[in-house]
Amino acid sequence: MRISVVKETAEFEKRVALTPDVVKRLCDAGHEVVVEKNAGEAAGFPDDSFKVVGAKIGKVFADTVKGAQVVAKVGPLEEKQIAALDENTAIIAMHKPHDNQKLFAKIAKQKITAFALEFVPRITRAQAMDVLSSQSNLAGYRAVIEGSYEFDRAFPLMMTAAGTVTAARVLIIGAGVAGLQAIATARRLAAIVSAFDVRAAAKEQVESLGASFVEVEHKESGEGTGGYAKEMSEAYKKAQAAKLHEVLKTQDIVITTALIPGKPAPVLITEKMVADMKVGSIIVDLAIEAGGNCALSKSGISTTKNGVKIVAHPNMPSRIAYNASQLYAKNVLNFLGLVMEKNSQALKIDFDDEIIKATCLCHNGKLTHDIFKS
Ligand code: NAI
Repeated sequence: MRISVVKETAEFEKRVALTPDVVKRLCDAGHEVVVEKNAGEAAGFPDDSFKVVGAKIGKVFADTVKGAQVVAKVGPLEEKQIAALDENTAIIAMHKPHDNQKLFAKIAKQKITAFALEFVPRITRAQAMDVLSSQSNLAGYRAVIEGSYEFDRAFPLMMTAAGTVTAARVLIIGAGVAGLQAIATARRLAAIVSAFDVRAAAKEQVESLGASFVEVEHKESGEGTGGYAKEMSEAYKKAQAAKLHEVLKTQDIVITTALIPGKPAPVLITEKMVADMKVGSIIVDLAIEAGGNCALSKSGISTTKNGVKIVAHPNMPSRIAYNASQLYAKNVLNFLGLVMEKNSQALKIDFDDEIIKATCLCHNGKLTHDIFKS
């Protein structure tokens, strides 16, 4: 089977969909892999690193995808790229179909198959294909590193002959995959860490990592479907805001990761709360691509208000592009195992498989996913 890897073109995107170790495995299994020129360069994988493991290098997008049965990508296709794709090619990527619904009518019309990896269900069998987890985990780590870089003080308590340096206080808002890794990273740097989430299940996970859990005095379950959070009631939001306002006054670094699937990120830190934070403290808003958890966050721009710096880098996983690409590539490889016929060169798309059903956006000229039925 011919598998192509194309260069990402989106702003802030440095990742590549397949890395040389994964390409080697595909070539060793008898597949032909074509990598677009400089596709891995920004992530730390030059063309030669693909060539030595058996890949061919395609000069431009059109050469690279010609005759491909599978095209691996990180982000969505651009409209102008569609015409170069052959009928029945399968594109595996994080397509962001909610933002690109119109594009998919064109993709489907051309009889291209598209799989959205961000729709891989959170079930045990799919864990090795779960790009949201692999990328969020690294984003959570990197958010703490970005925060520590911006913070002009130390994280650990240091008792020296010249005096004592106090430990930094780090608050993590949202203790999902990114938040838990942020807790672990801040703890490794010896900060005093606390965390907060609306899901009751998060409390035990937060405490098992050595952080304290911030409790809101208003009982309401935040569990939505599939392990995700739901939008909370107005009464809860009010109680949560009061609690956060108090806690934020004592923090040095705040990492926000709170998301609600299919909805804008909840705005949890208001301008008033920022005004009452300590001068020199830092907010890193990981939810910025969904609008942000802080009212003052601006995508791609660091904002300083009353001495508090708010950092909102879009595409945090791309800021750790080497590792993010390695893990993404493994996710793609595992997904390929699901859609490739064993010992054959053909694709096998079984709509009775819940992972295929959840991820396939279009196939055989039809939009197959529920998100298009409205
Ligand atoms: P996410 O990225 O959708 O949200 C991040 C966090 O924000 C979540 O923990 C959510 O509860 C929290 N949040 C939402 N609204 C909030 C608010 N108003 N205040 C404070 N926190 C708020 O979530 P993620 O990281 O994708 O994880 C979702 C769930 O999926 C978790 O329960 C996680 O354990 C589970 N999961 C299961 C996997 C599996 O079984 N294969 C793999 C990965 C995650």
